[in-house]
Amino acid sequence: MSEQAKTFNGWVAHDATNPLTFTTFTPKPFTETDVEIRVTHCGICGTDVHTLRSGWAPTDYPCVVGHEIVGIVERIGSSVPTLASSVASREIQVGDRVGVGAQSGSCLKADCDACADGQESYCTRMTGTYNGRYADKSKSYGGFAERWRGPAHFVFKIPDALPSAEAAPLLCGGVTVFAPLKKYGVGPGKKVGIIGIGGLGHVGVLFAKALGADRVVAISRSSSKKADAIQGLGADAFIATGEEKGWAKTHSRSLDVIISTVSGPDMPLAQYLRLLKREGVFVQVGAPEDPLPPLAAFSLIQKGVKITGSNIGSPEDIRQMLSLAAEKRVLPWIQQRPMEDVNAALVDMHDGKARYRYVLQNGAKQAKL
Ligand SMILES: NC(=O)c1ccc[n+]([C@@H]2O[C@H](COP(=O)([O-])OP(=O)(O)OC[C@H]3O[C@@H](n4cnc5c(N)ncnc54)[C@H](OP(=O)(O)O)[C@@H]3O)[C@@H](O)[C@H]2O)c1
Ligand SMILES: [Zn+2]
Ligand SMILES: [Zn+2]
Repeated sequence: MSEQAKTFNGWVAHDATNPLTFTTFTPKPFTETDVEIRVTHCGICGTDVHTLRSGWAPTDYPCVVGHEIVGIVERIGSSVPTLASSVASREIQVGDRVGVGAQSGSCLKADCDACADGQESYCTRMTGTYNGRYADKSKSYGGFAERWRGPAHFVFKIPDALPSAEAAPLLCGGVTVFAPLKKYGVGPGKKVGIIGIGGLGHVGVLFAKALGADRVVAISRSSSKKADAIQGLGADAFIATGEEKGWAKTHSRSLDVIISTVSGPDMPLAQYLRLLKREGVFVQVGAPEDPLPPLAAFSLIQKGVKITGSNIGSPEDIRQMLSLAAEKRVLPWIQQRPMEDVNAALVDMHDGKARYRYVLQNGAKQAKL
């Protein structure tokens, strides 16, 4: 086995305001349950933007974001083929095309109710793929880099039917919408609303259709994404909340489940809840930096609706999601950009220009020379 590299090269954030710089960083020490990957693609998730600007809490700089990683396995720890925690991860081979999502660690202990239930994303000792710490206290670094290193338990084989660039956004954005759609029974007989037609939301429309929902309603602030949502993504209807007068009344009590990917302040929460049928479920997956708006108790009392949230998905959810995406051709709409253009892509992402996910590609510029 080759000598392990002490440093990797990647796009490092040093503070909340300056552009990323291409430089070295020190990944976690390689252990025998780890995998090392040459990153080929990495999506830009809304969480990258929140983290880079310390939007939720102070970020632990230096930081390398990116948690929609696809790449080629270059190195496998000697314990991976017999990994106790994950039978699926035992199959990973050097040369495989694999992905990594937003989580790269959890305690995996038998006495952890989350891990023991296969709900690793709710483990209190979860390690995010970046801006986190592994059990050995080393920092986690993400995929805006040439290489990634981390636990095989959180590395997934990409089905052959999925191209790498389209697969990347599924690893975080895809599973974050798939997991609650599945958990709250979206399929035949159900009507579902997806709020916010961005990176997560557009894949939410695709998965709700792939799961066989009776009716999928795309809910956006303006009508600028209407044609894409209906003709392209297959939504059955579209509500432009900033343009359609009286929309909450017109469409009241029409949906069983709503997935909200809203990432910004001042969402019209009470009006969104009006769209739910009796005992409907509102799942917030977007993570605005400000508190949610205040809510009159009657918004909940009058129909017995539930408000809940959902954190990415478990490794098992990721495997099921990738398999459904391969079978039903759920392919995110992506715009590929060379990894070197990351700073410009982040500005465009922040400005809401992505249609609907930027995917950074390593080696794209060299390939053109
Ligand atoms: N829960 C989890 O596990 C998880 C996982 C991944 C990401 N996230 C979070 O999910 C959020 C969305 O991520 P993303 O990558 O999909 O971002 P994105 O591509 O920017 O999409 C967010 C969408 O939300 C809508 N929106 C933004 N500000 C709004 C506001 N003030 N009011 C109403 N709608 C607004 C916009 O849709 P329209 O233009 O259609 O209105 C926008 O396209 C982020 O906060 C991210 O951190 C959470
Ligand atoms: Zn993400
Ligand atoms: Zn745990």
